[in-house]
Amino acid sequence: MKFVVTIFCVGLVSAVSCQLQCLGGPHHKSTPSSETNFQECLLYAESSCCHANFTEKLSRSPMIEVNNYYYNRCGNLSKTCEDYMKKTECFYHCSPLASHWIHPNFSEAIQHVPVCQSFCDNWFDACHSDLTCTYNWISDWEFDETGNHCKNDCIPFHKMYANGTDLCLNAWGVSFVTSSSPCRCLDFTETDKKVIKYILKGDNSAESGEEEACKPRLKKPEDKKAADSEEHD
Ligand SMILES: *[C@@H]1O[C@H](CO)[C@@H](O)[C@H](O)[C@H]1NC(C)=O
Ligand SMILES: *[C@@H]1O[C@H](CO)[C@@H](O)[C@H](O)[C@H]1NC(C)=O
Ligand SMILES: *[C@@H]1O[C@H](CO)[C@@H](O)[C@H](O)[C@H]1NC(C)=O
Ligand SMILES: *[C@@H]1O[C@H](CO)[C@@H](O)[C@H](O)[C@H]1NC(C)=O
Repeated sequence: MKFVVTIFCVGLVSAVSCQLQCLGGPHHKSTPSSETNFQECLLYAESSCCHANFTEKLSRSPMIEVNNYYYNRCGNLSKTCEDYMKKTECFYHCSPLASHWIHPNFSEAIQHVPVCQSFCDNWFDACHSDLTCTYNWISDWEFDETGNHCKNDCIPFHKMYANGTDLCLNAWGVSFVTSSSPCRCLDFTETDKKVIKYILKGDNSAESGEEEACKPRLKKPEDKKAADSEEHD
């Protein structure tokens, strides 16, 4: 992790903090630290802004309630859709990278995290027939002590959102933007750690390095399958 931290700081002339920190709010640690006993969000166990107990409820399927936020107001989500929700929850709560996109006015919020177009499209496909009553899952609710409640009817995702772009740009408020450059975006996989320096620096001098860093992402599905079976041999 130390290696990665060093890279963040090299050549960063902007105001981006060199120190890894966590977002504000009651559910975030003040600084990231390693966690054992993660049941979900394993990507961030080495350096995490969430406590292990957060991952407990998140790991259930169907995922029903997390921090008094109910995911089943329109019925249980499908397993495939739920998996994408979990990835975005894990990133927001646990990733020490999230604070690079901290919202200037709300330390609990993030804005404009560049998410890979492919992730957005796959997320939209995964949730296509699941139901939702909110376009913006942060604000379009009635909140009381028993959590979030629908103000509107439940409709399928494919009616609520035009496409994956619409979903990424709006579902979590201003948190995400889409990026069609496969090497300068997050897709909430292990590769994020390698591509982060290219995302933050906007450095065009090391294109081959950039491509090397995001190699796992550029592989076609067939190649991936071949690589997987090689590993298993
Ligand atoms: C989760 O664990 C942390 C640290 O052990 C603790 O401070 C916090 O209160 C726990 N949260 C819940 C909801 O149990
Ligand atoms: C949703 O999941 C819960 C927990 O497994 C289950 O008890 C409930 O029957 C499910 N609801 C529907 C509508 O399938
Ligand atoms: C933050 O607050 C200031 C002052 O109210 C406002 O001008 C600015 O647009 C806000 N920034 C964002 C990103 O919401
Ligand atoms: C996605 O939907 C928006 C409308 O919300 C539209 O402007 C945009 O062109 C669509 N993108 C694609 C790739 O179809």
